[in-house]
Amino acid sequence: MNEVIKSLLAHRSVRAYTEKAVEDEVLDQIIGAVQIAPNWVNLQHVSVIVVKDQSRRKKFAALCGDQQHIAQAPVFLIFCADYYRTWLACRAKGQPFDEVVGQIDNVLVGAHEVGIALGTAVAAAESFGLGTVPIGDIRLHALDAVTELGLPKYVLPLLGLCVGYPAEWPGQKFRLPKEAVCFEERYNQSLAPLLAQYDEAYAAYLMERPQNSRVGTWTQLAADFYRPPYDHYPEVPELLRRQGFFHSEQL
Ligand SMILES: Cc1cc2nc3c(=O)[nH]c(=O)nc-3n(C[C@H](O)[C@H](O)[C@H](O)COP(=O)(O)O)c2cc1C
Repeated sequence: MNEVIKSLLAHRSVRAYTEKAVEDEVLDQIIGAVQIAPNWVNLQHVSVIVVKDQSRRKKFAALCGDQQHIAQAPVFLIFCADYYRTWLACRAKGQPFDEVVGQIDNVLVGAHEVGIALGTAVAAAESFGLGTVPIGDIRLHALDAVTELGLPKYVLPLLGLCVGYPAEWPGQKFRLPKEAVCFEERYNQSLAPLLAQYDEAYAAYLMERPQNSRVGTWTQLAADFYRPPYDHYPEVPELLRRQGFFHSEQL
């Protein structure tokens, strides 16, 4: 097994950090890896905002549902889908922009570019022995995040990422069997037996793990998470509207 795969296969999210700062040259290499990652037409629709200031990390911890690991990790990165630079380019050429950026596919492009960027940052950080945890809850109070980060129109804060040296390495979380997520040539819809098999193994894993052991299954977790009325991030439609991505005619 090569070193890259070894590092990727050792992944786990870290939610407890030491006070050791992340070295500037290490952070620069992580950002360099993010910048060189594949992106749509090389239009580079991602910006990363680096938050190190402790009082601001505390503020973001509170904004993200009181997640204390954000205050504890020395670096909090916020990954934004960014069409502001595109808008500057189009404006300079005298082109209209609003009806173009308002097409829903641009939200998909922004979201997958942020996903690629964050995944790259996680892999790069872990290669230096750093720990990370993605923070979707940056969208919990997305409008406050826009203000706090000074984001212009056409920029969406989509994901956060805590980065720091781990105070502890949690156990690895146990994934679905490969056959349930990777298919040869065509999708296999007969997944119920595989999910039942996973539920059984997952229940044993949840019960036996040293931290946060409990009774449960994966299908119960999924059903509980998506129980109606599902409204995980209620500010997102307003975020999209205010930042110029969502027009009333699309409703
Ligand atoms: C898009 C995304 C958003 C996430 N948001 C949060 C979050 O707000 N808080 C948190 O503690 N973990 C968050 N996570 C971490 C997941 O809970 C974690 O990756 C998952 O449970 C699998 O665990 P592992 O990364 O340790 O393997 C997020 C992960 C992703 C990919």
